[in-house]
Amino acid sequence: MKAEIVQLPKILDPRGNLTFFQNENQIPFIIQRVFWIYDVPGGDKRGGHAYKTQSEIIIALSGSFDVKIHDGKSEKIFSLNRSYYGLLVHPMAWRQMENFSTNALAFVASDARYNAEDYIRDFEQFKQMSNV
Ligand code: TYD
Repeated sequence: MKAEIVQLPKILDPRGNLTFFQNENQIPFIIQRVFWIYDVPGGDKRGGHAYKTQSEIIIALSGSFDVKIHDGKSEKIFSLNRSYYGLLVHPMAWRQMENFSTNALAFVASDARYNAEDYIRDFEQFKQMSNV
């Protein structure tokens, strides 16, 4: 499977908890870009593509959603619902994000700047490229 959950530090405090990650410690790459997905209408899906070379970490900063990962052979669903769990997604992993709760906030940190050329948007092509 080309994705795994990483548990991030959680600094418990009666004033409110704190979680963090930084380059090359909790994540195995240098962050080049962050983006977030929010206000997803009930029932809608995001993603539906793979990256050829990019890695990223996906965190449910608020609310919950599922990330369906396909590695070209099998599929696994990761449910994200805690802000101290990150889903590390490696290159050549097909991802779809779905079942967003109301007010879900999906935060993503990536090891690359936005590059449309790095996307594979056709699932059949993805499977062919994965199984060579
Ligand atoms: P896309 O990655 O297809 O969204 P998702 O995978 O969540 O469904 O991106 C949607 C649009 O936003 C697309 O036109 C490209 C643009 N975009 C950027 O310009 N920069 C970015 O960093 C990202 C993630 C998307």
